[in-house]
Amino acid sequence: MTAPLDTPRIASSLQIKWATEEWEKSAAMALRRRVFCEEQQVFEQDDRDEIDVLAIPLVAVALVQDIADGVVGAVRIHEDEARDGTWWGSRLAVEKRYRRFGGVGVGAGLIRLAVSSAHALGCRRFLANVQSQNAPLFQRLHWRSLGEFECHGRLHHQMEADLRYYPPCETPTIGFFTRARGAA
Ligand SMILES: CC(C)(COP(=O)(O)OP(=O)(O)OC[C@H]1O[C@@H](n2cnc3c(N)ncnc32)[C@H](O)[C@@H]1OP(=O)(O)O)[C@@H](O)C(=O)NCCC(=O)NCCS
Repeated sequence: MTAPLDTPRIASSLQIKWATEEWEKSAAMALRRRVFCEEQQVFEQDDRDEIDVLAIPLVAVALVQDIADGVVGAVRIHEDEARDGTWWGSRLAVEKRYRRFGGVGVGAGLIRLAVSSAHALGCRRFLANVQSQNAPLFQRLHWRSLGEFECHGRLHHQMEADLRYYPPCETPTIGFFTRARGAA
């Protein structure tokens, strides 16, 4: 039986990269709105803030037969203006259908490129305020908690990445490719 034409496709491979194209950047913003405003209701209409002016956006692009088919994950990174060498990651979001995708994983892949590409730019500390339900994911990826606090009505851990596990990535606009678990 063939799938109805309006069934959303699930790509079997993805490219994790810095967002360079306008459509990638606007799709990342739309995904953030769906996740942080509609799904989690952390923000009412819009989750954009002053950090977006200086942050570098990263995306996970779904590939169908090697052709870009949309943005299914996003995160942003920025250097702390007050602390030289300290970088932050924030607004990590993965489209529901692509969560726990397998392979490297969309969220894990975005975290990997976020830290590795900042490392190549001279990052000496990489921090994130992580919603507490996601702390185990970050711990598995060699992050440690610096303490728990409440923000936007949710518990968070401030966490730091162990940079020894994130070698500098000098080609972030290409990034890397990952395949779904079991994909040919
Ligand atoms: C949190 C989020 C980004 C994770 O993305 P994801 O693509 O599902 O994560 P991955 O598949 O890369 O996860 C890697 C591994 O960690 C596991 N994992 C994922 N989320 C986890 C969690 N919250 N707790 C424990 N383990 C988790 C996955 O099962 C996977 O394990 P595997 O390698 O054995 O399959 C996604 O669930 C999301 O967008 N949530 C809503 C928004 C949100 O909470 N943003 C983060 C704010 S801090």
